[in-house]
Amino acid sequence: MCGIVGYVGHRDATPILLEGLHRLEYRGYDSAGIAVVNRGKLRVTKAAVRVAELRSLVGDGHPANIGLAHTRWATHGEPTERNAHPHVDPDGRVAVVHNGIIENADQLRAKLTAEGATFASDTDTEVLAHLVAARVSAGAASLEDAVRAALWEVEGAYGIVVLDVRNPGELVVARNGSPIVLGIGDSEMFVASDLAALVRHTQQVVYLDDGELATLRADGYRTSTLQARRTDKTPTVVELTDSDYALDGFSDYMRKEIAEQPEAVRRALLGRLDERFSTARLDGLRMDPHELRSVQRVKFLGCGSAYYAGQIGADLVEQLARIPADAESASEFRYRNPVVDGDTLYVAVSQSGETADTLAAVQELRRKGGRVIGVVNAVGSAIARECGSGVFLHAGPEVSVASTKAVTNMSTCFALLALLLGRVRDLSVADGRRIVAGLDSLPDRIEEAIAAEDHIAEIARRFAGAGSMFFVGRVRGWPVAREGAQKLKEISYVHAEAYQAGELKHGPIALIDAQMPSVVIVPDDELLAKNIGTIEQIRARGGPVLAVTNATLPAGLADAEIRVPHVTEELDPILFGIPLQLLAYHLAVALGRDIDKPRNLAKSVTVE
Ligand code: F6R
Repeated sequence: MCGIVGYVGHRDATPILLEGLHRLEYRGYDSAGIAVVNRGKLRVTKAAVRVAELRSLVGDGHPANIGLAHTRWATHGEPTERNAHPHVDPDGRVAVVHNGIIENADQLRAKLTAEGATFASDTDTEVLAHLVAARVSAGAASLEDAVRAALWEVEGAYGIVVLDVRNPGELVVARNGSPIVLGIGDSEMFVASDLAALVRHTQQVVYLDDGELATLRADGYRTSTLQARRTDKTPTVVELTDSDYALDGFSDYMRKEIAEQPEAVRRALLGRLDERFSTARLDGLRMDPHELRSVQRVKFLGCGSAYYAGQIGADLVEQLARIPADAESASEFRYRNPVVDGDTLYVAVSQSGETADTLAAVQELRRKGGRVIGVVNAVGSAIARECGSGVFLHAGPEVSVASTKAVTNMSTCFALLALLLGRVRDLSVADGRRIVAGLDSLPDRIEEAIAAEDHIAEIARRFAGAGSMFFVGRVRGWPVAREGAQKLKEISYVHAEAYQAGELKHGPIALIDAQMPSVVIVPDDELLAKNIGTIEQIRARGGPVLAVTNATLPAGLADAEIRVPHVTEELDPILFGIPLQLLAYHLAVALGRDIDKPRNLAKSVTVE
């Protein structure tokens, strides 16, 4: 998704803005641009290039103390120089960078064109530059007033930063559905769409809420609503620093974050295991035992990998707490007029906390009076704030587009939730103790799973020629298979489909032949014999099989085998995810893919 950076202060803005853009590269983009005010003139440089090339285009740049910059992920219009941000009005007075989508841009553009305006791009954002400039020229009392008036005409989602060349001491920013964070410096202010661009300069931040604007000057900021009511914001001190975003010698963030998982899970468990009562402590839920007991159903809502992790969560809740539970794709939820009932605990799951569909599902639930908690990685994110209570993942910043450590921490946190719900009900002390011990040993088992990397890489190379792959699992193995297929397609672009093992014979088995390898998830549980049967069925039709298993399989059953460590049957799906991440990773490496910049994908999907 697009990235925004802005600066006003006493230092040269250009290097700060370019470095900020570099920090946001992981979000995915296809063009980049920067605008600064130098000697009373707006200097704009933009092109359909990577940030490194933009840096060369800017060269020594123009000394300036204020500016804004952007990486664009095309929505309206091709990824070209003319469509890259910043956008300026025809007089070159007002510059705007924008994340999100202005839904009534076509109507506004038609209206402005009828009034004689001409447009230099195909974007919705340029409309905003025109609207603000018109208000400024019409004598708005301040840039903030001009932006506010312009935003009243706009429908849609936005995070914007605006500057007026004739007022080079301030930036105006606004948020509606697309994240904006202010960074407070020493006689300087920063703004960005993502903490990653701020933490090398400051740990003091302010998260704007939807419907809020802010005016930033070197000496501070003030915030207000779209209705011009002043708001009072308390700065948050974030724990992240620049080194949290360093590659630390790894070739890419995905591999780094796979390696970080033992530590990430340790952080997720820290202070949350209660050995005395064999349960979990999740203070952030803000639910007393009575409320926990009143939960009659649990529904997990998330998108993509967060949705599949939610499915693991639903299985855990059913197994440990015997409460009916399921997972649903958040992108569908609000459109089907969902039945929301007061006895259900809704769990919104998101790494970024900014996924538009998941946020909209939360808002739909709150509108209907549903009880919703967030299981989120990004502290201060929209979903975390909208939910107000929940469980933070503590995975640390996840930069890789393909999610790994956040997904593992999601399932780990669901295990804690399931344990807690179970222990206020009928889960025995002995079973509680078994799960606590299993969770406690999880980081070490993850380390063991990662240690099999060389073997997995070798298998990945063997399968790298496949044009298409099946991922097959049943019950506990099914969400694992879905996530495995998702990881593979995202970063290797190899077509991968996940199937429930029992569904194969109802159609997809027709596709099995020597060119269609199947990755079969085989946990050592009560379904072992059935999963062995599935492998035999596939091989009988000439299909190569890679078994991912913690069971002892008959010799020669599969063409290749990846061994997974074991914790407890209930928790094992968390571990099964690790070799599948490594499989996808090494297969993509074998195919020469750009691991951290998978095509067409963005890290956080803040638009529909
Ligand atoms: C897959 C992946 C995506 C995200 C999905 C939800 O590797 O990263 O499928 O899981 O876009 O994102 P969050 O968790 O930020 O809501």
